[in-house]
Amino acid sequence: MAQSTDAVRRIFLAVDLADEVRHGLAAHLAEAVGDGGLPGSTPHPASWHITLRFLGKTDQLGYERVLSRLDAAELGSAFEVGFAGLGAFPNPGRATVLWLGVGNGSDPLIDLAGTVEEAAVDAGFMPEERPFHPHLTLSRIRPPQDVRGLVDTVPAFPLRQTVRQITVFESHLGRGPAIYVPLETLELC
Ligand code: 2AM
Repeated sequence: MAQSTDAVRRIFLAVDLADEVRHGLAAHLAEAVGDGGLPGSTPHPASWHITLRFLGKTDQLGYERVLSRLDAAELGSAFEVGFAGLGAFPNPGRATVLWLGVGNGSDPLIDLAGTVEEAAVDAGFMPEERPFHPHLTLSRIRPPQDVRGLVDTVPAFPLRQTVRQITVFESHLGRGPAIYVPLETLELC
């Protein structure tokens, strides 16, 4: 059946990971954390990404508007990001989200998120109220747990990746883990 043009989808914009980084990070965590794995519910490595902006429920008009603003925006040149160690929201003593931090390259990533935010607001989305904190979510933990031991002991992840594009994802929520489907990519220069 053809998709209706007034369909509402759950959309976010993110930096997707290079395969080498995805596989390297899975191996790094397996080595550092061991058989017990990370606490909480862990998205599959295929779902790992660095969110730039969560748009949430987006109708076709909003989708087209934000894409046209992004097409017209100056996304800047490709840049390299490095990664850091683990951290947690709201804090490691009572964590609900365990994440991998971004190391070198966080400034251009923050600039890119700012450009995406501007495009979203120009397209009619409500401004994001939380400050952008670049991270890659590794697990969601309910009820909260103390992960200070992990945060203190897992070494920084040493690989780097060149960010050449951003990806528009649709998030499908169901009974299992969310499924993220790439819809479009926008190239940096
Ligand atoms: P995360 O980046 O911390 O994992 C899809 O849900 C992606 O959008 C996830 O990566 C998620 O968080 C991010 N996101 C940001 N704000 C969100 C919100 N209010 N609801 C759901 N996901 C959100």
